Amino acid sequence: MTIFLTGTTGFLGGKLLANLLQTTDHTLYVLVRDMAKAERLVASLPGNTESRIRLLQGDITKVNCGLDAMEIDELTGNIDIFYHLAALVKFDEELRKELFAINYDGTKHALELAKLLSAKKFFYVSTAYTIGKHEYGVEKLYPIEAEGHNPYEESKVKSEHLAFSYADDMDVSIFRPSIIVGDSETGEADSEFTLYGFMRALDVFKRRVTRSATDPTTVYRVLGSKHATSNFVPVNYVADILAIAASRAEAGTIYNITNPKPASNYDILTMIKNALDFNQLAIIEETDEGTLTVEEERLNDMIRVFNDYLSRSFDFDDRNTQQLIDGTPIQHLDMPEETLQMIINAYFGVRGE
Ligand SMILES: NC(=O)c1ccc[n+]([C@@H]2O[C@H](COP(=O)([O-])OP(=O)(O)OC[C@H]3O[C@@H](n4cnc5c(N)ncnc54)[C@H](OP(=O)(O)O)[C@@H]3O)[C@@H](O)[C@H]2O)c1
Repeated sequence: MTIFLTGTTGFLGGKLLANLLQTTDHTLYVLVRDMAKAERLVASLPGNTESRIRLLQGDITKVNCGLDAMEIDELTGNIDIFYHLAALVKFDEELRKELFAINYDGTKHALELAKLLSAKKFFYVSTAYTIGKHEYGVEKLYPIEAEGHNPYEESKVKSEHLAFSYADDMDVSIFRPSIIVGDSETGEADSEFTLYGFMRALDVFKRRVTRSATDPTTVYRVLGSKHATSNFVPVNYVADILAIAASRAEAGTIYNITNPKPASNYDILTMIKNALDFNQLAIIEETDEGTLTVEEERLNDMIRVFNDYLSRSFDFDDRNTQQLIDGTPIQHLDMPEETLQMIINAYFGVRGE
């Protein structure tokens, strides 16, 4: 097969690229905006990458993703699958314009390009958090005007609708990972956001508290819900599913790539405390906000964008994904606590026992 990909210089895309190289003999056309970064990535991959990967300089915020007429001509009629992963993964309200320019307009450009190239299939990587304020995550579109928590979610909901509106032009499938964390074998993660942004903020906070020589028994409270869960999926699980989808995904189908047994925020914070060797953290319910000290307010400001996700549990139906992997070597996710602790330890450079 000949495959076109966006977003391969990112956390998930890098893993998917390596996976497709190792497990298939597909030819890979890779759209990147930073050629030097892409060349470093390709050089780090094992095997005969030169004959398999062709880097194309582009930008999804541009018409035709910035490809020129010659490139378009060369690719037209030759693309079996167009994987669209490129996105801005940030939740801040101040970034609303950029989020829509990259995530929504960028997806429109990717869809138009795929249509122009007569790609047979279009795989859109969205997020399980298009669930917004709904109670239960279904493998169907959510209403386009449904209220979300932030412009990232909104841009993804609208992009999902947009992607399915191209159903007459090509086979469109949507993949919705929940929060992507490190590799379940090695802990390795090339990410600075979601769990990693949260852990970095706690690390910075610990350093500040330690430096200021405050009372070592003081406990600092993070707003959230200790009983609520956070839905983590290892990056290699998501990449395995996206890779196998090339031959198994159905048109017009949405796949929630989620964790059926997510860890509680209390357990996750305990694991982070262990890895950080910093016991002075606790979770309190959001209703207690008025009782925060100045230092605690500072801490909660640092992790404000994660607050909505720390205070609620989300349950997801992933039966389409279960069916997709049924009879393949990919096992339905069952991530033990030790694996999550290892992934968290890997971020802080803590060796396991
Ligand atoms: N991380 C998660 O927890 C998570 C969870 C659910 C869904 N997802 C979805 O999974 C996909 C990949 O996420 P990720 O975590 O791998 O993100 P990431 O590490 O931030 O990577 C984003 C990728 O998009 C590329 N990109 C951004 N703007 C671009 C532009 N204008 N033109 C071309 N390429 C552009 C980046 O290129 P540069 O290297 O040049 O910046 C990078 O390759 C996204 O669609 C995201 O919404 C992620």
